[in-house]
Amino acid sequence: MASEKSKRGRRSEKSSADALSVGTRCVHAGENRHGRAASLTTDIAQTSVFALPNVDYLRDIVTGKSSDYYYTRNANPTTAAAEEKIAALEGGSGCVVTSSGTSALLAAVLAVCGQGDEIVSMLDVYGGTIKLFDVVLGKLGIKTTFVPYGEMERLERYCSKKTKLLFLETPTNPTLRCIDLAAAAKVGHKFGATVIADNTFATPILQRPLELGCDVALHSATKYLGGHSDLTAGAVVSGDKTLVAKMRDMSVTTGGVLDPGASYLLLRGLKTLEVRVEKASQNAKCIAQHLRGHKKISRVMFPGFEENEGHEIAKKQMRDFGMMVSIEIKGGGKSAERFINSLKLWYLATSLGGVESTVSYPVLASHVNCSKERLKLLDVSPATVRLSVGIESCGDLIADLEQALRRA
Ligand SMILES: Cc1ncc(COP(=O)(O)O)c(C=O)c1O
Repeated sequence: MASEKSKRGRRSEKSSADALSVGTRCVHAGENRHGRAASLTTDIAQTSVFALPNVDYLRDIVTGKSSDYYYTRNANPTTAAAEEKIAALEGGSGCVVTSSGTSALLAAVLAVCGQGDEIVSMLDVYGGTIKLFDVVLGKLGIKTTFVPYGEMERLERYCSKKTKLLFLETPTNPTLRCIDLAAAAKVGHKFGATVIADNTFATPILQRPLELGCDVALHSATKYLGGHSDLTAGAVVSGDKTLVAKMRDMSVTTGGVLDPGASYLLLRGLKTLEVRVEKASQNAKCIAQHLRGHKKISRVMFPGFEENEGHEIAKKQMRDFGMMVSIEIKGGGKSAERFINSLKLWYLATSLGGVESTVSYPVLASHVNCSKERLKLLDVSPATVRLSVGIESCGDLIADLEQALRRA
């Protein structure tokens, strides 16, 4: 309930608004800009800019004496609230939220690398990451060497004094192989590199790269952090405040910041992250077990299975085995397509991490630009289908998979 003081304040604002002409009232009437009762939820500061009380205030901001808000591309309270929450979840000292996972990656790379520097990256990373490294950074004179999964134990051989950045992703897409973040980070640090781990698939609920020695945890917040398939966002978190400031500077300067409305959706989604991850992980386990040994399936890829590459490390560094399951359908591409087209509950969608279960067809989505040789190295074929398990009732999800497999 509003206090007498604030009620009085509103009345006096209203009476002064009455004195204004209609055009001015259109802009200002009803807009209680000067102090309000606190909401239980974080307000959406849906503004591109902040009204400043006087020139001294502006001077303090531009000279760095004050860190108050003045322009949303630089900082916004709704976005800052999301950043604080994600930093707290990853155990970092700061976070930069961006307009997509891709812009988060760009900000992080530009914070660390310049012309003539080199990146060492796992080959088993998101396709868009490979393209950004190869095509965009290549143009800027930053060279990337890609390390196939089977070579990760010999990672040292791929690094040199020029290596400024080591890029990791685990579990990988779509084969869900896992790599030892702590061991890889040690190698990166030996060469003085900054180590970034894409933690999109695991989320900070299941795996915390910073605690394992990595310098930056990166997210496509479009996926589990948002969790409802209704926003595109990214985040980079670090325990190193200087690095956070550099990443923020790059994000602000290249313009890849998040709109406050989307920041609100991200904040709201994050509130249920743990319950969503727990339920979807349970569902994934149950589905993977059901599909293992199925007569229409030649292989089930799930980090919780002993035969999955990196299972032992997944057991050690993850709290649970995740919400993704990939399968290989017997009969190859044609059967895989029939299976996908027959699903009724699982939507064909080239993303993941929403509350709804979705299916993706890697050779026509994340891996559409890969050569045959690269697909072989990545162990992906037209028979590979990736399942992003949601939070529905497991029995319904299995029944739908079963009827689609009968038609495959
Ligand atoms: C693991 C991973 N990292 C990064 C990205 C890029 O994120 P965004 O699409 O939000 O730019 C994706 C997108 O699918 C992804 O799966």
